[in-house]
Amino acid sequence: MPNLRVHFLPDLVEPTDLAGNRCVVVDVLRATTTMVSALAAGARAVVPCLTVEDARRLASSYPPGKVVLGGERGGLPIEGFDLGNSPAEYTPQVVADKTVVLTTTNGTKALVHCQAASEIAIGAFVNLSAVCAHLMNSADAATIDVDVVCAGTELHVTWDDVLLAGAVTERLAAAGNRQLDVQAAIARDAWLALSGSASGGKLKDRLLAALRESRGGRNLIQIGMQSDIELAAAIDSLPSLPRFDSTTGAVVLTDSHSTSADPT
Ligand code: MLT
Repeated sequence: MPNLRVHFLPDLVEPTDLAGNRCVVVDVLRATTTMVSALAAGARAVVPCLTVEDARRLASSYPPGKVVLGGERGGLPIEGFDLGNSPAEYTPQVVADKTVVLTTTNGTKALVHCQAASEIAIGAFVNLSAVCAHLMNSADAATIDVDVVCAGTELHVTWDDVLLAGAVTERLAAAGNRQLDVQAAIARDAWLALSGSASGGKLKDRLLAALRESRGGRNLIQIGMQSDIELAAAIDSLPSLPRFDSTTGAVVLTDSHSTSADPT
């Protein structure tokens, strides 16, 4: 029976333990939501960079007009960058047919941490069903282990990521036999407690309230970016499956017409 493991922080799993597995990287507030948004808006690719310097250097290697430099530190836009890390900024007018070079505090690090995996999908509430459909329907779904890796917020576990990991776990476990680890079971139970009908009200509203109370949500409210939480809570608003392509080092849409991050 294939394993479904959840890691509440990247550091809770050795990169080598991910080798050969299928990973879902999660940073609901906001890096993975922003990546899905940028690609849905027509960006050619999103290239994650660990440092501000690496991001600036890489962006400067692209011809003018072909690249957008985005990211945050402390949640705020970085001096000299084109965009911050708000999914709302990544509109077709700004990113269509361009490569986005992105550096964020936790999300891009989590992605880089998973590079030994045989596949890395980008997970957020905005593409929840597309990610789950892929995990359940791919040809090797019955045999391959799945690891959901949460970015967390500066070494702290965050509810926003745990809830998404739980939503993924609940759907996969319901669809077939999966050996859940302890963190997967905890995440699933947290999601069921939130999503169960006994909780009252609409799921949309309960999820929004939970994201607002999460560490990432509180940080965003503090810097006046609460509208990003609403975008991140919109389940299935951007039904697409971005994946990291280890040969190019870029996140691209599956079946996208434009899958190259090459500067030329
Ligand atoms: C991150 O990668 O740390 C985040 O996405 C933080 C943020 O958006 O402010």
